[in-house]
Amino acid sequence: MIETTEPPDTGGPLSATGAGQTPSMPVITISPASPPASTPSTPSIPSTPSTPPATTPPATTAPPSAPAAGEPPAADRVDCAKKKCIALTFDDGPSAKSGEVLDLLKDRGVKATFFVLGERVKQYPKAARRMAEDGHVVGNHSYTHPTFWSLDAAAITSEVSRTTAAIEKATGRQVTLLRPPYGESNDTVRGVERTLGLAQILWSLDSRDWATLDTDKTVSRVLKQAKPGAIVLLHEIHASTRAALPAIIDGLAKKGYTFVTVPDLLGHTKPGVSYSQRK
Ligand code: NI
Repeated sequence: MIETTEPPDTGGPLSATGAGQTPSMPVITISPASPPASTPSTPSIPSTPSTPPATTPPATTAPPSAPAAGEPPAADRVDCAKKKCIALTFDDGPSAKSGEVLDLLKDRGVKATFFVLGERVKQYPKAARRMAEDGHVVGNHSYTHPTFWSLDAAAITSEVSRTTAAIEKATGRQVTLLRPPYGESNDTVRGVERTLGLAQILWSLDSRDWATLDTDKTVSRVLKQAKPGAIVLLHEIHASTRAALPAIIDGLAKKGYTFVTVPDLLGHTKPGVSYSQRK
């Protein structure tokens, strides 16, 4: 598979816009049985981190394991083989504005997935708890939003395991999903994920909310590019994204989509394997 480097955040993770600068990532779908299905596109921002990733083969098959405790009981799941499912994901929280997003999702009966930063869970533990209590899934997005391609396995392990501990303390739920900052994956990252029991979740639809910071563009991009089985990348920390949410949700609902969490969309996932959409 080919992986494309992306620039780091311009601000610190706790700055007003810092950790939200998740760049565009190519859609990469990996399954143990087949090569990547799509060709990555060139990202719009040319600068690169200092350490480019090695080109890596598709992830190897992880050993089978029982469904994770974080997954809902099978009987409660939406059947995405029959329904037109889509998974909205919100990165880089929790934040002082999480409540606005959670209120909106609650009003519209939408379940989503939040990929949170450990240091922000420490800062906003009640917001993290409410995400879980409202029926959303809370995944790991590292502790400080570093570029994983610049870190060794020990440093990545520290970032990830401290975040899992913070989430589990705040929510009481087991963490089974990791979205690496900037979508930066390689063999080292997947090895850490395998060891820590985390499936890697990327995305198939980048709203580019982080780049445009434009409500109308965010709405139109999501509505135009939506496909059944898509995982949609959004950032709760941007006001333009929060303002876009009603039109995104109402527009997708009008097109017949059912909103599900990532575990509901994908079904059983394997640690150390990367997913960007429902197959
Ligand atoms: Ni991020």
